[in-house]
Amino acid sequence: MKVIIVEDKAAIGHTVGQMFVNAVKNNPKVIFGLATGSSPESTYQYLIEDYQTNHTDWSNVKTFNLDEYIGLEPTHPQSYRHFMNEKLFNHINIQKENTYVPSGVGDYVSLAKQYDQKIAEAGGIDLQLLGVGTNGHIGFNEPPADFDSLTGVVDLVEATFQANARFFDSINDVPKQAVSMGIKSILNARKIVLIADGEGKAEAIKHLVEGEISNLWPCTALQNHPDVTIVIDYKAASLLTKQ
Ligand code: F6R
Repeated sequence: MKVIIVEDKAAIGHTVGQMFVNAVKNNPKVIFGLATGSSPESTYQYLIEDYQTNHTDWSNVKTFNLDEYIGLEPTHPQSYRHFMNEKLFNHINIQKENTYVPSGVGDYVSLAKQYDQKIAEAGGIDLQLLGVGTNGHIGFNEPPADFDSLTGVVDLVEATFQANARFFDSINDVPKQAVSMGIKSILNARKIVLIADGEGKAEAIKHLVEGEISNLWPCTALQNHPDVTIVIDYKAASLLTKQ
């Protein structure tokens, strides 16, 4: 596992944004796995600025998002489809039909079962972007996580309601379930980059980098993958023994 420690969230966006731009330049048909939440915002901002300045061509890129809340329509302001449109897709020349976000409405159970197949048919994810929860979740795979899981319906836990309440009017409005790519789905990506900033993530990062592999810290499953880079700020790195 490669660990890159940078100054702050903007520097994370710069470092990781460059990796994504280079990947598009090297392979215009690259397939990305994408995340939502606060962590990737600076990366998406970098990609938008790069598009405006350098016109990097996203027209043949495909993306698969990690997760979606159950019960939120794609147009709901807190849905992850809406987030992706607002924070990235509406501002670059990606074709919307090439962007996949799990469905949280309609027949979401069968659609979730088809999601890994859809990724495989597209050719598999070349580069997967991940955040990490304060409790070590990746995607919405909460502890104790099943390391063999594929995309499916998952229950969220109290720590996640609390962490995500900031996006909703009240903690009671945070959906209790989501559709998420499983740990196995995530580990199928050819390359993974995980980002984290702030002290709140320091414990999860300590487990990820220096801890034992345990389903109580789902992020430690990444130790089983041959090509993982983590890009974090000093605060998220603050509990690491070696910096
Ligand atoms: C989001 C996702 C989650 C988040 C994690 C961190 O698609 O899968 O695992 O990456 O909850 O969220 P933030 O970045 O908001 O701290």
